[in-house]
Amino acid sequence: MASSFFIPLATFFLLFSSCFATTKMIRFSQNISPASLGLHEEKLSRLHFYFHDIVSGPNPSAVRVAAAGMTNSSPTGFGAVVMMDDPLTARPELSSALVGRAQGIYASASQEEAGYLMVLNFAFTEGKYNGSNLSVLGRNKVFTTVREMPIVGGSGAFRFARGYAQAKTHTIDLKKGDAIVEYNVYVFHY
Ligand SMILES: *[C@@H]1O[C@H](CO)[C@@H](O)[C@H](O)[C@H]1NC(C)=O
Ligand SMILES: *[C@@H]1O[C@H](CO)[C@@H](O)[C@H](O)[C@H]1NC(C)=O
Repeated sequence: MASSFFIPLATFFLLFSSCFATTKMIRFSQNISPASLGLHEEKLSRLHFYFHDIVSGPNPSAVRVAAAGMTNSSPTGFGAVVMMDDPLTARPELSSALVGRAQGIYASASQEEAGYLMVLNFAFTEGKYNGSNLSVLGRNKVFTTVREMPIVGGSGAFRFARGYAQAKTHTIDLKKGDAIVEYNVYVFHY
């Protein structure tokens, strides 16, 4: 009885002892309390602002940086990639208070409808969120009344952020391509 138990154990030890001898336990993680990072109560905030996507004129805030051979003949501009640094303002007028900027990429990702992949950061420059950022990764069907995009994270005041943004076109100049979009952002953060 005893030997039938110990022989497999000895075999196991012989096979793996060399690994154990060379592998040091490296401790690189631990459980910590949220309070140790100064995180106490999770809050829900709503942010409201207007996004100005200016593609026309001498100072556009969004520029096409790439396209496919078939982009111009595609009814949805499939394959177009646009880099934006769009101002965010408190009111629909571009001259109203600047609260931050939307910096990132939108790209035509649908062959069937006007559907964009949005990958961007909201970089806030006003009030208690000055210096804090929120990251958005979502799908934007621009001709739908209200589009919802996930907030996937944030920094500064928005560490551990999660939530969603709702975008609603305020005005669009179909000739120039310029648009003003109203954003309501709902975000959980500390
Ligand atoms: C935002 O923060 C920057 C850098 O700390 C500072 O220079 C700027 O004046 C602040 N803006 C406002 C509106 O508080
Ligand atoms: C927010 O983004 C800016 C760049 O726009 C970066 O310099 C800054 O460090 C970020 N803020 C925080 C709190 O990480």
